[in-house]
Amino acid sequence: MTGLLQQVWVPFAPEQASSFAPEVDALYLYLTLLTLFFSVGISLAIVYFAIKYRRRAPTEVPRPRAGAIALELTWTIIPLMISMTIFVWGASLYFKLYRAPEEAMEIYVVGKQWMWKFQHREGQREINELHVPVGARVRLVMTTEDVIHSFYVPAFRIKMDVVPGRYSYAWFEATKTGKYHLFCAEYCGTNHSGMGGYVYVMEPNEYQAWLSGGATDSPAAQGKKLMQDRGCATCHQEDTVLRAPALRGLFGSDIPLADGSQQRVDEDYVRRSIEEPQAQIHQGFEPIMPTYKGQLSAEQLLQIIAYLRSIGSDTRGGGATMTTTEGRAGGTTTGAGPVTGGIPPDTQRSNPVGPTTPAAGRVGQQPSSTTTGTGQGRRAGGGGANSNR
Ligand code: CUA
Repeated sequence: MTGLLQQVWVPFAPEQASSFAPEVDALYLYLTLLTLFFSVGISLAIVYFAIKYRRRAPTEVPRPRAGAIALELTWTIIPLMISMTIFVWGASLYFKLYRAPEEAMEIYVVGKQWMWKFQHREGQREINELHVPVGARVRLVMTTEDVIHSFYVPAFRIKMDVVPGRYSYAWFEATKTGKYHLFCAEYCGTNHSGMGGYVYVMEPNEYQAWLSGGATDSPAAQGKKLMQDRGCATCHQEDTVLRAPALRGLFGSDIPLADGSQQRVDEDYVRRSIEEPQAQIHQGFEPIMPTYKGQLSAEQLLQIIAYLRSIGSDTRGGGATMTTTEGRAGGTTTGAGPVTGGIPPDTQRSNPVGPTTPAAGRVGQQPSSTTTGTGQGRRAGGGGANSNR
């Protein structure tokens, strides 16, 4: 189906460079043709009836007409069916776009007046440039340091707001190597128009080479160090319950709160627990933690999250809604393989960047680069856990 859709030529559309692009364009084309059909049809009908039923004599009085049930039902039911096709098609595509698959390489994104900052799991940082491998699923965990911005890559057909005080997510799978515009699509101040750059889609081996370029710690390692530096370890230990729950296995799990409710430990919960520690207390623990609001930057918060995720119970998904991969379903499976080298939706993989066969993927990921400390090790670990599922 994807193959077919890729041949659909849509006027004025940007280049198609992600697995979504042909599908979004096809829906758009459908909407456009539908609108054209009815606009032209109604306009012609107006002209035709105006002439056909024109007043022929100054004294002419129109004949009164009673209701026509059959006609009214027809022009109600047919448009209802047509609008439902738009709804069903649009909703299914929306779910694909906004439900990130569990198996994806994660990149942290921070918007700031007026730039986009990225950090890869291996540690590399970029500003206004984003390098990604072709044919791999990329999940973006995004937030902002100041005001609302909107992350927009037209060639990928993705656009997602970043909002102060919360995390938003987007994902894509690039299908073509190249250089694509990146924009901020939400007016955010003086230099809004200059807040953008490029996404570089590279062959996987080039991407690996690029990754090994600048050696830095992984965000997870930086988060761990940050927690040590800030003295968090006095109460927060990986495996020991001190004045706070043990950190290992916490991220991604459901914990009981003091008020008796359940809470999924996700990005937003971690941030809230750091900035407003009294808000949602883990059952059985005292509300003794001071607030760190304003003391950590958006990137530092993401590093702590990366660290907790790396020792969490679910190193992949972001929560219950993320566990499904049916985002890729809907008939794209057959087309996706050969075209993108992408991952079939039913395959769980430890390294989305590597070759498609899981075994080969694990072999390929071991050596890679000198850049990574905990990052690679954790990924390999995650792969083991996944294959046991
Ligand atoms: Cu950021 Cu507009």
